Amino acid sequence: MGKNVVIVGAQWGDEGKGKVVDILTEDADIVIRFQGGNNAGHTVIVDDKKVVLHLIPSGILHEEKTCVIGNGVVVDPECLIEEIDGLLKEGYTVNEQNLIVSKDAQLILPYHKRLDIEKEKLRGTHKIGTTGRGIGPAYEDKVARCGIRCAELLNPTALKEKLKHSIAEKNSYFKALTGEAGLDADEVIEDYMRYAKRLAPLIRDTSIYIDKAMKNGKSILFEGAQGTLLDIDHGTYPYVTSSNTVSGGAATGTGVGPTRLGTIVGVTKAYATRVGEGPFPTELDEEENAALREHGGEYGATTGRPRRCGWLDIVALKYAVRVNGLDALVLTKLDVLDNLDEISLCTEYELDGGKVSDFPTEAEVLSRCKPILKTVSGWKTKTSGTKDYNELPDKAKSYIELIEKLTGVEVILVSVGAARSEAIIRKNPFS
Ligand code: GDP
Ligand code: IMO
Ligand code: MG
Repeated sequence: MGKNVVIVGAQWGDEGKGKVVDILTEDADIVIRFQGGNNAGHTVIVDDKKVVLHLIPSGILHEEKTCVIGNGVVVDPECLIEEIDGLLKEGYTVNEQNLIVSKDAQLILPYHKRLDIEKEKLRGTHKIGTTGRGIGPAYEDKVARCGIRCAELLNPTALKEKLKHSIAEKNSYFKALTGEAGLDADEVIEDYMRYAKRLAPLIRDTSIYIDKAMKNGKSILFEGAQGTLLDIDHGTYPYVTSSNTVSGGAATGTGVGPTRLGTIVGVTKAYATRVGEGPFPTELDEEENAALREHGGEYGATTGRPRRCGWLDIVALKYAVRVNGLDALVLTKLDVLDNLDEISLCTEYELDGGKVSDFPTEAEVLSRCKPILKTVSGWKTKTSGTKDYNELPDKAKSYIELIEKLTGVEVILVSVGAARSEAIIRKNPFS
């Protein structure tokens, strides 16, 4: 049997999962996305070339590996084709040999995108700050049992009928919601017939594919999108995404049983960021926020929105350890803290005059939590370029060891720059 590893975001997304997956793909045979859709933006930088992946697993830059889009993902076929074409243009190999899509993955349709945007408008000041990619409405249809799955792309006649029916239904909502006419069914059908033709060769039963591969000793890398605190059940509801981002989602989102998942690794930045609305206890004031944002290049990889920045939140990280069953942590963007005189991290919250050490998931309660900070002095030394853990400044090592002590989980990889080569691997989860 090969070894399997699950990578999940331990914070609010954008922890650097794409970079970590790209590095670990070296030791995997297959990389599989299990949830989310093109709300994700996973950045990989190789030889000064930057690639942002939204739907295709971050292993795709390794030509000889297979990438899989699992059943738990919501697939916007237009976006997928655009992403494939973008990679082909850059000289990467993408074909039915190295990219397969689960027949059971749900499709994102144009009405999902439109509903996402209209519903956000209606929420007004209570908006979630979604990416506007149609993710929530597509998952709503999945759960309401009226979604359309990738398998339907293999049967154009049936697909046409389903599209006609669902567009008519959604158009009645648009009419009620906005007073405007809805989508032109013929246009959507024409587009989806074209997408069907293009994507049909990629669509398969991926659960069977993975099972066979595992029986043949292949190693699987599961690539999470978003982060633990954006999980539909365990995140800061309702300021979350619409899928299970935690490690358990890797089983339901791929058709691989939970006992087969292997080592569960959580990725966290050395500080914290959040994009979109919702409580964020360690968020900094605008001046300090701006400093971290500029040093860390904290602008959304999907929407370009500035990310909110704050100190590392150990209360939240301990929660991520619990709900994911984390075996190990990866710490990214340590280099972003290189110039700071002092670095803080939050060890507990203060709430209503008392102390809280278990992460509250009720958004209203969390929004009243004030961070209790522990401050350490910075190392004021450049860390990018460091290859060996022992060559890191003592104060940087102490910071990492403090995180290990407070969470009870070892940091197996430290990332000290955006490039593939800028990483210190202390322990390979595949070995
Ligand atoms: P993901 O969504 O979790 O894959 O993360 P994103 O790609 O959205 O955001 C992470 C950003 O940080 C990207 O711009 C990466 O290129 C960059 N990055 C990743 N690791 C490091 C690191 O160790 N140091 C620095 N400075 N940048 C990093
Ligand atoms: P990666 O995989 C950070 C956030 C949105 C919004 C909320 C709901 O790159 O880490 P949605 O469009 O999913 O309905 O939006 O979730 N969000 C992300 N934040 N990184 C992501 O993905 C995100 N995907 C969604 O900003 O607050
Ligand atoms: Mg991202």
